[in-house]
Amino acid sequence: MAYYRQRGSIPPKRHTQHRDNDGNLYREELMGEEGFSSDSSLLYHRGVPSAITESRPWQLPEQHTVANSPLLPRHLKLHGLFDSGTGTDAVTGRRLVLGNDDVRISYVTADAPSPLYRNATGDECVFIESGGGRLETVFGHLDYGSGDYLMIPRATTHAWVPAQTTRAYCIEGNSHIGPPKRYLSRFGQLLEHAPYCERDLRGPGEPEQRDLSDVEVFIKHRGDGPAGLAGTVHVVPGHPFDVVGWDGCLYPYAFNVADFEPITGRVHQPPPVHQVFEGNNFVICNFVPRKVDYHPLSIPVPYYHSNVDSDEVMFYVDSDYEARKGSGIGKGSITVHPGGHSHGPQPSAIEASLGAEFFDELAVMVDTFRPLRLGEAGQACDDGVYAQSWSRGTQ
Ligand SMILES: [Fe+2]
Repeated sequence: MAYYRQRGSIPPKRHTQHRDNDGNLYREELMGEEGFSSDSSLLYHRGVPSAITESRPWQLPEQHTVANSPLLPRHLKLHGLFDSGTGTDAVTGRRLVLGNDDVRISYVTADAPSPLYRNATGDECVFIESGGGRLETVFGHLDYGSGDYLMIPRATTHAWVPAQTTRAYCIEGNSHIGPPKRYLSRFGQLLEHAPYCERDLRGPGEPEQRDLSDVEVFIKHRGDGPAGLAGTVHVVPGHPFDVVGWDGCLYPYAFNVADFEPITGRVHQPPPVHQVFEGNNFVICNFVPRKVDYHPLSIPVPYYHSNVDSDEVMFYVDSDYEARKGSGIGKGSITVHPGGHSHGPQPSAIEASLGAEFFDELAVMVDTFRPLRLGEAGQACDDGVYAQSWSRGTQ
């Protein structure tokens, strides 16, 4: 995110001496992307950021996947995956719904604080379906609530502290995730035609320091396990939250979906107008409450479409989703529409949509350019009948 922020105490010139009141040097750390050739930040630590005293393997949540075979559109019901009040946290408790070599989608209902966590495989974009709490990070903390996207750069040490039970839809890239490039100037400013701007992005508050020692940090990284992943726990002698100040263009931030300004038209607008972020080989879109098409003969719901190069995953967050009426889709549902299959509204939804002026819907969509496979949670909550929902409407 090429938008400069500064928090806490930093020296006037980078890479120069910065000392505390007793004359002790702070340790400067550069956290940067693409090998010193992209966005970065400089953090000033009281301790040594690379110090480790012990390590041990961390058994990641189940990462095995199976192919979507036979090839079918699917309806997955996420709310059935978790019981409430079970002491689940948003890191070790998340369950894998869908994944491929570019992105993994997990889901969790969390009501307990997570351990310190660092994802070394790529950026995470976590959408808060409901609940609230605090995302604590080495850069400072972000309060979160329903409708927030929390963007967490790769290898950022952080922890989830729910104040209320939190339903989180976790999009883990194997790459960086950020605003669509077509909305950015050549220097990274969000352009006038973008559906949001820098004022809508919330950065971390002032960094906080903790004095605990022998703290565990759970790291997800590349390895020999399923999906090429593995986990390690590092025990570190000082708490990683020891930063007195930082500045730069790389940091976690929050964006609330209510701040996305929808792009509308006289006739149906294609999904790219709903795009909010992108990673390598996938995009993230959101469908927000909006006025709909105002041509006198417009059809507000989508045409049937065969987006031949992608699998399409829609997560239904709130309100009615007009195009899916008659299919059993509700809050907490996911539909998976794979490449190679044409999809569109349930037949009865088309006539029903004529004359509509407003859609009160909220959904988050991930389109991937490589096929998605089903994780253990995706298999566990598949309704098994969605694929027949269009033919039921034609009989
Ligand atoms: Fe679609």
